[in-house]
Amino acid sequence: MARTLLVTGGAGFIGSHLVRRLVQRYPDYRILNLDLLTYAGNLENLRDIEDADNYTFVKGDICDSSLLQNLFRDYGIDGVIHLAAESHVDRSILNPTAFVTTNVLGTVTLLNAARQAWGDRDDVRFYHVSTDEVYGSLRDGEYFLETTAYNPQSPYSASKAASDHFVRAYGNTYGFPFVISNCSNNYGPYQFPEKLLPLFIANIVQEKALPVYGQGLNVRDWLWVEDHCAAIDLIFHQGQNGETYNIGGRNEWKNIDLIHLLCRKMDEKLGRPAGHSASLIRYVTDRPGHDMRYAIDPSKLERELGWTPSLTFEEGLARTIDWYLSHQEWVNRVQSGAYQDYYQEQYGTR
Ligand code: NAD
Ligand code: DAU
Repeated sequence: MARTLLVTGGAGFIGSHLVRRLVQRYPDYRILNLDLLTYAGNLENLRDIEDADNYTFVKGDICDSSLLQNLFRDYGIDGVIHLAAESHVDRSILNPTAFVTTNVLGTVTLLNAARQAWGDRDDVRFYHVSTDEVYGSLRDGEYFLETTAYNPQSPYSASKAASDHFVRAYGNTYGFPFVISNCSNNYGPYQFPEKLLPLFIANIVQEKALPVYGQGLNVRDWLWVEDHCAAIDLIFHQGQNGETYNIGGRNEWKNIDLIHLLCRKMDEKLGRPAGHSASLIRYVTDRPGHDMRYAIDPSKLERELGWTPSLTFEEGLARTIDWYLSHQEWVNRVQSGAYQDYYQEQYGTR
């Protein structure tokens, strides 16, 4: 069945992988990418598919209700996959309001436009892409399930939790057809170098300090970005309305162990003496309210929809390092923008 899908945030990290996948796998669909091109959005991420017949880019804001109404009317959108967001926890600590505006108000504005355009149609779907951070922090031995109570701890996760609640409230109140997924930490090409892995790869190349928050004992659960997009594709097409699916690859790493692994791999790749990259490690003041541990139990997704990750972490990390090393120009360009000011403001010169 031909469909017209609106992907929001499609010029960002995960969104660009998802748009590429949808454009290539579904030639009968029209894929409409709505993105404001903030510091985190970059059309260079989609250069290889920008001329595809079934792809259209629109620069705009998910908070702009008249733009959204026009898009639904003009394109006959019958599916939304909503990724547009402010996504970086450290930025949310510096400027929470931007997170409320985009993540909460933007999501509600998009919900309203979809509901108004769709009425009672049941052949449509709104897919809200969310995060495991809405569940808060875990103790050893615990895992996030779809039934875990929400307990967001940062302004970022509070804004994502609020947006999840609005999506469910529209389902409950208006019978609005939705699915939600909550995913763990993604890694891979095109991730903005403010997040741990691309920042540290860039800093190692440039021989800058590696700022480890606190003692580096926090645990994150890492997933190859294309495996997240494969899960989104599967859930969008085969998931049940009103359901939530947790996405994760059972791949927990203590930050400091991951950083040492990265340092070893980078020394090998760059032909530097063993221990050179690790000598750049600096323990710095912890992130305020830093969640200790995230870990997803993806059993529901595995059992009900047959999803499994495609890559081992070793392979994914190697591919990620290779991509960043062969895309230094990309790193330099995105780092030379607004990000540089932010980095200076937060950490000063290292
Ligand atoms: P990102 O910061 O790389 O990209 C966000 C994109 O949204 C950018 O292209 C930006 O220009 C766009 N955008 C921001 N505000 C907008 C607005 N008002 N209107 C239109 N576009 C706007 O983010 P990401 O890491 O790719 O995350 C995408 C989504 O996935 C987010 O909703 C995030 O909460 C969620 N998520 C991310 C991860 C992760 O590890 N990165 C994990 C789980 C869930
Ligand atoms: O869990 C999913 C979430 O993962 C997504 O919802 C977010 O959008 C995404 O940014 C990510 O959040 P984190 O805060 O976990 O990612 P970040 O890369 O910022 O940090 C990963 C870990 O590394 C975290 O424990 C903080 C630590 N860290 C991070 C940076 C940037 C450092 O020690 N030093 C750093 O410089």
